[in-house]
Amino acid sequence: MKEKLMEQFQKLYGAGGDIRAYFAPGRVNLIGEHTDYNGGHVFPCALTIGTYLIARKREDRKLNFYSENFAKLGVKESSLDDLTCKAEDAWTNYPKGVIWAFNEKGHPVESGFDMLLYGNIPNGSGLSSSASVEVVTGVMLKDMLGYEDLTMVDLALYGQYSENNYNGVNCGIMDQFAIAMGKAEHAIFLDTSDLSYEYAPVKLEDARIVIACSNKKRGLGDSKYNERRSECETALAELQKVKDIKNLGELTEAEFEEIKDAIGSEVRRRRAKHAVYENQRTIHAVEALKQNDIERFGKLMNESHISLRDDYEVTGIELDTLVEEAWKCDGVIGSRMTGAGFGGCTVSLVKTDCIDSFIEKVGAAYKEKIGYSADFYVVDIGSGAHVMD
Ligand code: GLA
Repeated sequence: MKEKLMEQFQKLYGAGGDIRAYFAPGRVNLIGEHTDYNGGHVFPCALTIGTYLIARKREDRKLNFYSENFAKLGVKESSLDDLTCKAEDAWTNYPKGVIWAFNEKGHPVESGFDMLLYGNIPNGSGLSSSASVEVVTGVMLKDMLGYEDLTMVDLALYGQYSENNYNGVNCGIMDQFAIAMGKAEHAIFLDTSDLSYEYAPVKLEDARIVIACSNKKRGLGDSKYNERRSECETALAELQKVKDIKNLGELTEAEFEEIKDAIGSEVRRRRAKHAVYENQRTIHAVEALKQNDIERFGKLMNESHISLRDDYEVTGIELDTLVEEAWKCDGVIGSRMTGAGFGGCTVSLVKTDCIDSFIEKVGAAYKEKIGYSADFYVVDIGSGAHVMD
């Protein structure tokens, strides 16, 4: 892959100079959804698919972006002298945002770059292709500009900072953290209240992780995401009037039940309930995995989906169909939506010898009910973002 992209880079921008290659994965979250902006736990892992970036420093302040995935757009040009976020700059607003964030955070970017990107994460699938672009850009800038003081966690935080303040999505830290810090065959048990984390081996033995992509266009997703986030913030402020807490992730189920009436609306009570219960489920799920109790892990995944469907209301008919059809199949240990919701993907743990029939049955039922097809990917857990040798 690297050689082919290097060749394309030189065809596009000319040979010579110090051309380097970088990779950042996509991610899938196994459990712990919509907990990361509530100070709770998440349990994502990096994938082996992701974003490749080939780059070379320029002598001037020009930024040239080209993506194999958006070849029709050709080379998009920008400049360090105008880093505003513009609709017509399309996907390049992600790498531009990271350059902007480096400047804001005191790691100035003073030279331009030629860049070529290629991603093999299915488009708009909810496997964090945008966070992958952010982190790969950060890894490139750190390497090219020699900012050795920056850690991988810093690069995750810069990615989140740019997404929040440049691209206008109030996301938590989960995606960028998983992408920056991923480890092959492990998921990351991350406490988002203080960024402490632990790697947990994911040994599925006779099962695999299967991702089903709904192919539903997200549309309103981002604004709904921000809406959920502010509902949780309001609920937290209401609870803080009766209990000294910093975030919803601090509460056990019992503590929440005791004080939940302080929340002034039934809808906000359900949103907060999800955040509290999902955090506890995530803690239990990791315990179960450590004890090799994969059945219990799967049940907690199923409960997570029900809570996201009924209390948090971020699923929709597409994701519900994929999950509810998955639950009917033989060999399914657990199945749930993953990521922000409102479209995107589901994640299922499926016994290896049942994967073909799973894809066939869920695929047929989905097409029948929804009218278009879902795509399925059997994935492996890969390592975090890095400079390619
Ligand atoms: C998106 C966000 C994450 C997280 C998930 C939901 O992927 O980018 O920060 O909030 O949704 O768990």
